[in-house]
Amino acid sequence: MKLFIDTGSVAEVEEIAGWGILSGATTNPSLLAKEQGEPGDIIRRICDLVDGPTSAEVVSTDAAGMVAEGRALHELHEHVVVKTPFSKEGLAACKELSSDGIPVNMTLVFSANQALLAAEAGATYISCFMGRLDDISIDSTEVVREIVEALRPGRTASQVLAASMRHPGHMVTAARLGCEVSTAPAKVLRQMLDHPLTSAGIERFAADWKTRPEFAEWLRGLVDARAASVR
Ligand code: G3P
Repeated sequence: MKLFIDTGSVAEVEEIAGWGILSGATTNPSLLAKEQGEPGDIIRRICDLVDGPTSAEVVSTDAAGMVAEGRALHELHEHVVVKTPFSKEGLAACKELSSDGIPVNMTLVFSANQALLAAEAGATYISCFMGRLDDISIDSTEVVREIVEALRPGRTASQVLAASMRHPGHMVTAARLGCEVSTAPAKVLRQMLDHPLTSAGIERFAADWKTRPEFAEWLRGLVDARAASVR
């Protein structure tokens, strides 16, 4: 499963892109509205940092408006994927944009039926919001399972993108269900790093190594010799 970051913050993308785990990014109007600066600059910077698909969302509610905004957003950067909300108008806009070779992320998909329609409209990504389903006591695992099963195997080129990830458990569930992509806020990506046995293990290795100072010197020498040889 590819990992995208769900944010409008360039600082967060800078931080997490440095880990080498990001394949793309998703933004939305709510996320961008929290940021200072020109949205176009932010989107372009995120595209450069992740060097992969970066969703930017239209806000019009009619198909023609969505298409016009989508074309303009895509021209900001070659990595821009146009996010259209699920609706009859969104489907029509998705069809037109994708027919012109502009990738579309159909968002706010909450059922397998909606996913089937989005796939037929040519969506590259179909975003299902797990957290928002759980918020209203609908089991997001069952909905995502139904979407993945309805679209697979190989029945469509659309990729299922699990979004609205609230905790690391959502990430594992999305991967186990076969989602191609999951987009998570920086907070959740940071939480994925942690395990008490990992930190304890690192501390123990360091402490044991310190009991043999001559070994530390040997390793330093090895590094210095290599650095001298490649100079
Ligand atoms: O990018 C869309 C989605 O991930 C939003 O998440 O937390 O606002 O439900 P959330």
